[in-house]
Amino acid sequence: MPKQDVTEVIQQYNGELNPEAGATAIILAAGHGKRIKSQRSKMLHKIWGKATVERVSNAARKGLSGANVCIVVGIKAESVIKTVGKRDQQVFVYQEEQNGTGHAVQVALDAMPEFIQKQKIYVFPGDIGLLRDSTVKSFREDFRDSGKDMMVLTGRYEGDPAENYYGRIVRVPDDDQNKNAGNVIKIMESKDIQALDSDEPYPLEYDGKTYEFSRQELLEIPEFNTGVFAFNGVPLNENIANLDANNVQGELYITDLIGIFNRKGLSVGAVTALENRDVLGFNNKAVLKEMNSLYQQDVYNQLKNLVRFRDPDDFFINDETAEKLIQMDVNGTTLDLTIGKGVYINGKFEFGAGVELKDGAHITGNVEFGNNVTIHKGVELSTYPDQTLTIGDNTIIFQDNIVKGNTSIGSQCRIESGVNVTGSDRYPTRIGNRVMIKGTSYIFGSIIEENAWIEHCILKAKRVHCHYDRNGDVAPVRYVIPQPEGLDDVESIGDDREEYTWPPSN
Ligand code: UD1
Ligand code: MG
Repeated sequence: MPKQDVTEVIQQYNGELNPEAGATAIILAAGHGKRIKSQRSKMLHKIWGKATVERVSNAARKGLSGANVCIVVGIKAESVIKTVGKRDQQVFVYQEEQNGTGHAVQVALDAMPEFIQKQKIYVFPGDIGLLRDSTVKSFREDFRDSGKDMMVLTGRYEGDPAENYYGRIVRVPDDDQNKNAGNVIKIMESKDIQALDSDEPYPLEYDGKTYEFSRQELLEIPEFNTGVFAFNGVPLNENIANLDANNVQGELYITDLIGIFNRKGLSVGAVTALENRDVLGFNNKAVLKEMNSLYQQDVYNQLKNLVRFRDPDDFFINDETAEKLIQMDVNGTTLDLTIGKGVYINGKFEFGAGVELKDGAHITGNVEFGNNVTIHKGVELSTYPDQTLTIGDNTIIFQDNIVKGNTSIGSQCRIESGVNVTGSDRYPTRIGNRVMIKGTSYIFGSIIEENAWIEHCILKAKRVHCHYDRNGDVAPVRYVIPQPEGLDDVESIGDDREEYTWPPSN
């Protein structure tokens, strides 16, 4: 995309930075993500229904309580910007060429007013989609309490070292009985370690002393760089221009600031995340999938005492709904919700008590469920964002039905299988209490009065009254079908046409 066009999109989507915020989170989201083997930007891959960059940005904003957010975009800039959307205290910066994480931070700083550059600066990679605000908050507290000029958040790698693609945290060995034991000397990229000679020890200098590491020793370091950093803005700004691209990838590495800070006598700290899952990044689809299941397990664990799940590994409930359910429980509301296998609910919902969503129900948009509503297998309920679908107490909607749009269904209704109910903005559908609708019916934009009984009808913008027979029973409305239209365009095909014979002759 030409730079001019990106600049226009950015102007449209930029919010105002708050000079009082005291801190800014720079989120790096410009990179290629080649190993993910996808058309989509890596940053837009979703974890539990939300783009990873959006999750990182939410966690950063919340964990740093009210910090400004600056998102560096590059590859697929426009879709990344539009996915995250416009927000207060958030700006986008375009990194035209991806010359590395250090370059990305530099580009972000250059775009900020000077007084903001001098405040605390935090850096996050856009792909650590499981990052929680609690982890960000404790990192911020660690940084503040340490009084250091720079701090890196680390993780602990548990798999096969040969598959560890993270940058390794190289510390002064503990067996060195000096005051520097445990201090971080350098972060070494996996690719740079791999390029070393396996027989030659690799020397690293720290505080005037040289330490030697073998290629294998470096590869086996389990502590890795999560890509999350905290800086005092002043030394960061003074030193970022000193990065060089003297490495295998020919890029400016943000990690090289550690060596630069050490040499200048600035202080560098490192702290390990309490939970490793929070700092997992993904380079391939398998890890992304694993991250998604970890997220699902969390949702399950948070809800398992409030919601009956038929299958803990097969359901989707969007974050906002999960939070709402938890809040309802906290407020002492009885929920007693049952979620079948493969149920998908994504939208804004109101739940009465005792709602049951059977296997494979697919529910999106705004839906209000009364008490004891039962939604059978494979039912699809949906609305557009500005519409509402309401379903009254004790109503049952049977298997595979489709109910959508601007529609309300009263209490104690039975919508039997093979029914399609739709309401539009102009023609809402209103179904009264205790209505029975039998199979093979299509109802659009109609008003059905209380107690009515409808069998096998096609009703389009109709009002259906309810009347009683001599015995006082509801008289059913049956086989109402509109008059055909457009019959001139329909013709019969003779039996002799070959393409209509079955089985085909050859
Ligand atoms: C980086 C770290 C590595 C760390 C790992 C954690 C460096 C040099 N290496 O490696 O130590 O263990 O992240 O996941 O920092 N990006 C840009 N512009 C660029 C380059 C990258 O915005 O020019 C963004 C990417 O979109 C990504 C993040 O920065 O979100 C990290 O870049 P990536 O290429 O994934 O770096 P890694 O090789 O994983
Ligand atoms: Mg990466």
